[in-house]
Amino acid sequence: MIRHGVPGDLEGLMALERRSFGPHEGLFSRRQIKRLLASPTAAWFIYGDYWGACCMLISANGRARWGRLYSLAVDPAHRQQGIGRKLVQAGLAWLGSQHVSGCRAEVKAGNASARHLYESLGFTEVEGLPHYYGLGGHGLRLTKKLDSPS
Ligand SMILES: CC(C)(COP(=O)(O)OP(=O)(O)OC[C@H]1O[C@@H](n2cnc3c(N)ncnc32)[C@H](O)[C@@H]1OP(=O)(O)O)[C@@H](O)C(=O)NCCC(=O)NCCS
Repeated sequence: MIRHGVPGDLEGLMALERRSFGPHEGLFSRRQIKRLLASPTAAWFIYGDYWGACCMLISANGRARWGRLYSLAVDPAHRQQGIGRKLVQAGLAWLGSQHVSGCRAEVKAGNASARHLYESLGFTEVEGLPHYYGLGGHGLRLTKKLDSPS
């Protein structure tokens, strides 16, 4: 049910983003999605017929390597069926296979569903990000060690 994204998924992912995010919720641009689809250090995970997707990007600083979770989105018609959880778990498993020791993510402070999901997967909220999503759109940074249980 979950497959890796390829460059030909650009339009499908754009449409999913538009269905899933409001205007001030960190919608990715076509250029950002295209760049991530082409990046050798990123992987997209797509569920069903664009019912849901997320992206993991590996960053490195010296010997340290960590993952960034981007653009987790589930089509409103397919929410609360476990798809978001399966996508993040697939992304975390991929990071583990790439010998990455941790994962970071950002979430809007008011996004209760995403915060519950991340917490239940073992992420910890480590830092407030004032106005991260524009004026008044406060965010939170989360981290997860990949050897911790989820
Ligand atoms: C956040 C989002 C990805 C969740 O996807 P989903 O497929 O509905 O989530 P799941 O069905 O896998 O739910 C997993 C957990 O998330 C939490 N959750 C999901 N929807 C929830 C809701 N409406 N209220 C509270 N918690 C919720 C629960 O902890 C749930 O665990 P449970 O099944 O034990 O109750 C989805 O709501 C979405 O795409 N929202 C818009 C885009 C967005 O906010 N993306 C995240 C950006 S950081």
